[in-house]
Amino acid sequence: MLCVNVELKERRYPIYIGAGLLTNTDCYPLKQGNKVMIVSNPTVAHYYLATVTETLEKIGCIVEYVLLPDGEQYKTLDSLNLIFTALLKANHGRDTTIVALGGGVIGDVAGFAAASYQRGVRFIQIPTTLLAQVDSSVGGKTAVNHELGKNMIGAFYQPTAVIIDTLTLNTLPKREVNAGLAEVIKYGAILDLPFFDWLEQHIDELVALDQTALKQCIARCCQLKADIVARDETEKGDRALLNLGHTFGHAIETHLGYGNWLHGEAVAAGCMMAAVLSEKLGDLTPADVARLEKLLARANLPTVSPDGMTAQDYLPLMMRDKKVLNGKLRFVLLKALGQAYVATEIDQDLVVDAIHCCSQFD
Ligand SMILES: NC(=O)c1ccc[n+]([C@@H]2O[C@H](COP(=O)([O-])OP(=O)(O)OC[C@H]3O[C@@H](n4cnc5c(N)ncnc54)[C@H](O)[C@@H]3O)[C@@H](O)[C@H]2O)c1
Ligand SMILES: [Zn+2]
Repeated sequence: MLCVNVELKERRYPIYIGAGLLTNTDCYPLKQGNKVMIVSNPTVAHYYLATVTETLEKIGCIVEYVLLPDGEQYKTLDSLNLIFTALLKANHGRDTTIVALGGGVIGDVAGFAAASYQRGVRFIQIPTTLLAQVDSSVGGKTAVNHELGKNMIGAFYQPTAVIIDTLTLNTLPKREVNAGLAEVIKYGAILDLPFFDWLEQHIDELVALDQTALKQCIARCCQLKADIVARDETEKGDRALLNLGHTFGHAIETHLGYGNWLHGEAVAAGCMMAAVLSEKLGDLTPADVARLEKLLARANLPTVSPDGMTAQDYLPLMMRDKKVLNGKLRFVLLKALGQAYVATEIDQDLVVDAIHCCSQFD
C-alpha cells in the first residue's frame, strides 16, 4: 500500500492507494461504535457496498447506506436532500461519518452533504473511477449542480481519509478508464516532465489496468494534486493550472450536451488545443505537440474537435467560462512539457487558429 499525505496542518489527511484496500480495516479512521452513512449509487453498490459494509462492521461501526440515482443529472439538491433525510431518519448526530463510495458525482454530492449536515461531519472518500481517484476525491471541492449552472452550489471541505482500491477499476467501463487517463496525462503535461516520460513508457499497461503501474500512476497524480492543494487550497493561484484543456473542454461538453463526450474525452481534445496554441506562441515545439497527441491517442482519447464543431461554436461558450476575467480569455498554456502557466491576454485570432488546427476538416 502506498500513502500520500495532503499537508493542510490540522486538517492533514492520508490518501491510501493499493489493490484490495476496501477490506483493509487499517485504512479507515474509525473505531468501534462509530455511526456511518455510506452514500453510493445502484451501479457501484452492486459491486462494492457489501464489501465496504462488512469491513466497517468488522471495525465495530454501525453502518447504514443511502443510494442516489446514477448520473451527472442527479448531482442535484434533491439528491443532497435524500442524504439528509436518510441521516435524520436514522438519528445521525454530529459524530456521524459520511462515506462516499463511487465516482466523482457521488464524491461531490456526499462531500457537500458532509460539509453541511449539522454544520459539518466526518467524511471519507472511497473513489471508484480513475477520474475520482486521481482528481475529484483529493482537494476538498464539493458541489451539486443547479439547473442554471454546473457545480454552482458547494463548499471546500476536506475528507479525513481517501481510500483508493485500484481493483475497483476492473469493473469500470473501459471508456471511463480512458477518460480518467486524460486527467493523468494532463498532470504530466502541466507539472512533471519525468512523469510524462514515465507515462510514455507505461501507457499500455495503464490501459490494460496493470495493478503495479496503476498504483504508481495514481500515487504520483495524488502527490502532484496534494502539493498544489497544500499551496493553494481555494484556487487563488497555482491550483488553476489543473484546468489545462478545460476551457476548450467545457465548450465541447456544453456544445454537445452533457453525456455525449465524457469529461475526460473533452479535456483530451482541449489539451491538444492548448498545446497547439502554446506552439503558436512559440513555447512548445512541434515535436512536443506530437508527443502529447501520440500519448492521448494511445489512451484511445480524441485529439481533435468533435465532428462539425467550429471556432464560432467555441468562442461564445468559452467567454461564459469561469476563467474569463474582464472580458479577456484566460488560458492555462504550456511553456514546455511539464511546465504550465496562466496566460491572460491571448489574441483571439490565435485561439481561432489553434481550434482550426485541431479540427477534423484540416
Ligand atoms: N471535486 C473535484 O475537484 C472534481 C474534479 C473533477 C471532476 N469532478 C466531478 O466529478 C464528476 C465526474 O466524475 P466521474 O468521471 O467519476 O463520473 P461518475 O461519478 O458519473 O462515474 C461514471 C460512471 O461510472 C460508474 N462507476 C463508478 N465506479 C465504478 C466502478 N468501479 N465499476 C463500475 N462502474 C462504476 C458510475 O456509477 C457512473 O455511471 C463530475 O460531476 C465532475 O464535476 C469533481
Ligand atoms: Zn477535469
